[in-house]
Amino acid sequence: MASLRTFLDSLPEEEILRFKNPMEMDYTPTALALELEKEQKFPMLWFEKPNGFDMPVVANIFAHRDRIARIAGAPDAAGFNQAWLRAENNPIAPRIVDSGPVQEVVFTGDEVDVETLPISRHFQADAGRYIGSGILMCKDPDTGVRNLSFQRLQMKGRDRFGASLHSRGHIWDHLIRSQNKGKNLEVAVVIGAHPAIYLAAAAKVAMEVDELDIAGGLLGKPIDLVKCRTIDMEVPASAEIVIEGELLANATEDEGPYGEYTGYSTYRSTRNIFMVKAVTRRREPIYLDIIPGNSSEHLLLGRCAKEAHVFERLREVVPDVKALNYPKSGTHFHAYISLKKRVEGQARHALMLLFGLDSYLKLAIAVDEDIDIYNEEDILFALATRFQADTDMFVVPKVFCNRLDPSSVEGMSAKLGIDATIPQDFDAERIALPPEALERARLALAELFPEK
Ligand SMILES: Cc1cc2nc3c(=O)[nH]c(=O)nc-3n(C[C@H](O)[C@H](O)[C@H](O)COP(=O)(O)O)c2cc1C
Repeated sequence: MASLRTFLDSLPEEEILRFKNPMEMDYTPTALALELEKEQKFPMLWFEKPNGFDMPVVANIFAHRDRIARIAGAPDAAGFNQAWLRAENNPIAPRIVDSGPVQEVVFTGDEVDVETLPISRHFQADAGRYIGSGILMCKDPDTGVRNLSFQRLQMKGRDRFGASLHSRGHIWDHLIRSQNKGKNLEVAVVIGAHPAIYLAAAAKVAMEVDELDIAGGLLGKPIDLVKCRTIDMEVPASAEIVIEGELLANATEDEGPYGEYTGYSTYRSTRNIFMVKAVTRRREPIYLDIIPGNSSEHLLLGRCAKEAHVFERLREVVPDVKALNYPKSGTHFHAYISLKKRVEGQARHALMLLFGLDSYLKLAIAVDEDIDIYNEEDILFALATRFQADTDMFVVPKVFCNRLDPSSVEGMSAKLGIDATIPQDFDAERIALPPEALERARLALAELFPEK
């Protein structure tokens, strides 16, 4: 049965940084991941003895594109899009089984105490200890289709969390419709499952799609589910920890601030309340944390599936689009595309489409195929030499956007599209070297530095 454990077993030891001594959980995983990032290092972090808690914590699984690609069944980052789209187009529905390790221990009523979980503080201004790595599973109140997504949960007591559904995705829609029926929304929070389920939960797919079907597609087999003990929901049988409960209808209270993907601490919150009915878990569970803020892990998890999905939609209309990158520097607000331009105006067409497909975007830059869109110096070179501001860009004011952008105004932002592709009457030739000279240089360097 695929689980977090089968994935951890498959990881090469050199990709894991283990801490065998007792470690403070407040801030430490975040500080370590961000310090390592500065050196371009993205190991998974494994804390065997968190101070004051009786279970290990793993974090930073999703910090590198190659590791995410392997979770999706591709050998490396270059193969991710194809692997993702194969799963999206060949979903495998989950199946219900009678029992599973996630219910080896069950706490209900007065026995519930989420404070015993190694939920950490991540950033200095955070309002408290937060779960940012919980997959919230709920059901469409009208159709019953399951939905998986992430929403930050501020621990407020043994059985109480504050929640922010600010991306106003499907769970927000479900809650509003439940409220209209006068009902709370039942939600199961899954902590620690096979990372393929995390990738699927982070994806924005149609409301009629159960993300677990895509996770099954990624794994090539159905996900086994067990029925929750206190709510009408099914959860991965091999998960580590599940918190069963309800998002309250028509009730709000203060929540936040929290260090968000934008790189800012934000008070913006839908201020929802999540009340816990049960905690079920393995006898010796592993707690999975996700490094929040604009860490590599948070941003990559949020955008890998989106890139694949949006790229495919773009190519359906503009087949000459070659690649799409959401750079880390732009949090989720910038994107670069490369294309083999055949006619003038084609880049603008692709840019408009891109803005239409993703409301978070504020800046999109189109470049030619010879520009490496994963190298921002190359993007700036294209801007420096192929772009004129008076003719090659357009601005669309006041468009719906993501409210967490601190510069947005009343939930709207301007969209800036830049066409940095070579104009038609361009007569400059890019400098180049003869291939034999490059080969000579490579051989000479290989002789001087054989270890490379
Ligand atoms: C690690 C992580 C944390 C997230 N935290 C939140 C959050 O606190 N609130 C929120 O509204 N969206 C959050 N999101 C975004 C949604 O979970 C995400 O957009 C998801 O795809 C929405 O699912 P849906 O399309 O099924 O509604 C987070 C995403 C990730 C990857």
